[in-house]
Amino acid sequence: VYQMLPRDRSLPPLVFHWIPWFGSAAAYGQDPVEFFKSCREKYGNVFCFVLLGRKVVVTLGPKGNDFVFGGKHTVIAAEEVYSPLTTPVFGKDVVYDCPNEVLMEQKKFVKVSLTTDKFRDYVGMVEDEVTQFMNSDLAFRIFQLNDINEWGAFGSYKTLAEMTILTAARTLQGREIRENMDKGFADLYHDLDHGLTPLHWMFENLPLPSYRKRDVAQEKMSQFYQNILRNRRAGDGDYEDDVMASLMRQTYRDGRPVPDHEIAHMMIALLMAGQHTSSSSTAWVLLHLADRPDIAEQVYQEQVEHFGIPGGGFREMAYEDMRKLPILDAVIRETLRVHAPIHSIMRYVRSDVPIPASLGAPSEDSVYVVPKGYTVLASPSLSQMDPLMWKDANTWDPTRWLDAAGMAAQAKREYDDDTKVDFGFGLVSKGTESPYLPFGAGRHRCIGEQFAMVQISSIVATMLRKIELRLEGPFPKSDYSSMMVVPKEPSLIAYRRRNFD
Ligand code: HEM
Repeated sequence: VYQMLPRDRSLPPLVFHWIPWFGSAAAYGQDPVEFFKSCREKYGNVFCFVLLGRKVVVTLGPKGNDFVFGGKHTVIAAEEVYSPLTTPVFGKDVVYDCPNEVLMEQKKFVKVSLTTDKFRDYVGMVEDEVTQFMNSDLAFRIFQLNDINEWGAFGSYKTLAEMTILTAARTLQGREIRENMDKGFADLYHDLDHGLTPLHWMFENLPLPSYRKRDVAQEKMSQFYQNILRNRRAGDGDYEDDVMASLMRQTYRDGRPVPDHEIAHMMIALLMAGQHTSSSSTAWVLLHLADRPDIAEQVYQEQVEHFGIPGGGFREMAYEDMRKLPILDAVIRETLRVHAPIHSIMRYVRSDVPIPASLGAPSEDSVYVVPKGYTVLASPSLSQMDPLMWKDANTWDPTRWLDAAGMAAQAKREYDDDTKVDFGFGLVSKGTESPYLPFGAGRHRCIGEQFAMVQISSIVATMLRKIELRLEGPFPKSDYSSMMVVPKEPSLIAYRRRNFD
């Protein structure tokens, strides 16, 4: 009944729901993208829904993206929303468990270790890890198939989850972590990862085994990294110049060195931030290529053209070459358009904030106001698939990124009025009003984009060099039950090895 009572006109329209407190949790949880679309039809680009006691104001479209990504961080803050989920997993004093200014410095520390020089090394490392993985009998016993005409199958998401963590361990995480991957580190990772679910986000602490396992794993993993740090410091300095080494050299603006527990927790945060985002994206790329063997063939031919050795086989990939592979690049960009891993970008509203009239307003001379204590939410997934902005918006079509006119229009939309802003970790493109934002924008923008592109393209190229793909069964639907958009299991891909291996 309370929904029918006269409401404050400055509040955005409330999505109808039957059960107070629970609100629209079922519809949002099941398929947030469909839920937003159907609400947009009824209420427009600005509406409010109830999610387990929280009041969430959704602002859709490029202007809605701008409102959330470009909002003043002192008013529209990420910490309050994300911290209950991330702090028990990452650990204390990093990311959302510290003032935003400190996070900006932490991002800058990591950013300085993600250089072109490093990426040069990473390409070969990723290729090496993927090849080893494909040769092992861990997953899809590829080279055990004697008959090259024989088709096998692998679960794309599971397989890519393995490859992603192995390649991230070998590159970003450093030698000690990679060496311990098979010796218990992977189990700790899994226990920690099981603490990153919507349940753990809604209820920070419950007397359930997954919570206890999460906390034990966090403590052990934190100690694990801190031991590595102690050993490195006690040793003769003979360790690689990796992300951890770079963090060991950094100091905060006030002169304070980065304490070991913070380095440990930043390393955990990087591991978790890059895992499901990259692995689901790579799985989606392979699923689409399996579904479109004609495009997979073009990606393969691009490899032959750039890296093929006369008489058969390939030379090693180099970072500079990877940047000149327009087809592979378009395939990844397009996959991130259709399957952005993060569907909801949220912020907590610390004091009443007006919504620009251009997004929607109750009348000509008034505006909506989001009250203090509400959550605001943007969903670039929607603007990335909006038929008003994209031709054949629902079709996965990498050629849209190849066509020069399309690229120019896209670039214009993305960078028009673009101001380069220093958020504390180097100049980044503000670009908060773009319809295409798989890596976010503004001060919380992803710092892993370039690494992710190196990782995804190296994994896909290495796999395609060795195997042909076909889709096994219908194209998998999106699974929204975890925090990310991942392909619904079993997400099988049929494969056959290429004949010159
Ligand atoms: C932030 C997407 C890979 C580290 C973000 C945000 C998005 C995103 C949308 C913004 C979140 C927000 O505004 O609330 C992705 C996608 C990836 C990817 C699609 C891969 C395909 C990675 C990797 C790393 C990473 C590999 C680490 C190496 C981070 C960090 C932030 C971030 C540290 C900043 C969080 C903040 O400032 O609040 N990412 N990410 N990401 N990502 Fe990524």
